[in-house]
Amino acid sequence: MSVTIKSAREIELMREAGRLLEIVHNRLAEEIRPGISTFELDKLGEKTIRELGCVPNFLHYNGYPASFCISVNDEVVHSIPSHDKILKEGDIVSIDAGLIYQGMHSDAARTYGVGQISPEAQKLIDVTRESFFKGIEFARAGHRLHEISAAIGDYAESFGYGVVRDLVGHGIGKALHEDPQIPNFRQRSRGIRLVPGMTLAVEPMINAGRADVEWLDDDWTVVTEDGSLSAHYENTILITEGEPEILTLSK
Ligand code: MF3
Ligand code: CO
Repeated sequence: MSVTIKSAREIELMREAGRLLEIVHNRLAEEIRPGISTFELDKLGEKTIRELGCVPNFLHYNGYPASFCISVNDEVVHSIPSHDKILKEGDIVSIDAGLIYQGMHSDAARTYGVGQISPEAQKLIDVTRESFFKGIEFARAGHRLHEISAAIGDYAESFGYGVVRDLVGHGIGKALHEDPQIPNFRQRSRGIRLVPGMTLAVEPMINAGRADVEWLDDDWTVVTEDGSLSAHYENTILITEGEPEILTLSK
């Protein structure tokens, strides 16, 4: 598959898909507290998506059994919501969410602290979020894709963090995952030239310790090999001639 350039109509729909996904995220953010299970968050989130007239795009994707990925502490991404996984004070939790609005996809992730968290955990969350913004300084027409990758990775690594290599961001549009792949660390090549109308899901996954990850036996959950905390931050963006439009984040 090659990189798709969205039409004006598709961009309008993707703006709406992004706006609605932000509503879903904000609704779930209100519910994060010690004692709630990741299953409950998933169910509430799915209900919210459907009430907004949308469809969860993660559900049944390659057999994925839930509508959200909700990853706690050393879980990097793709952890399946469960009754048995109860958030507790001091945890960090990443909620990865996506939906389809009139055929167009949106995808975004946030990491939150549960109650009071350690300064180290808060710093990891803050640097991961900031690395996204460092990256998208280069997300504009005329720049090369891997300038985004390098800016994300260099920033996160300057704090001694491990930048996950085994998972990447992606193009997004009529499908959840389109070309191109978007690594979060410096590449040898410059990558494709960015063009207005490209829509990208940029998603740094950053570990407090080493970059290495492993997959659990459920074939979904990705955890840090060294057991260190991991944070995730993602938005769907639109490439323009100037500053990128962040479709899943207003303000
Ligand atoms: N949001 C994830 C991504 O960016 C997708 C989760 S995988 C799924 O690639 F199976 F849950 F959909
Ligand atoms: Co994504």
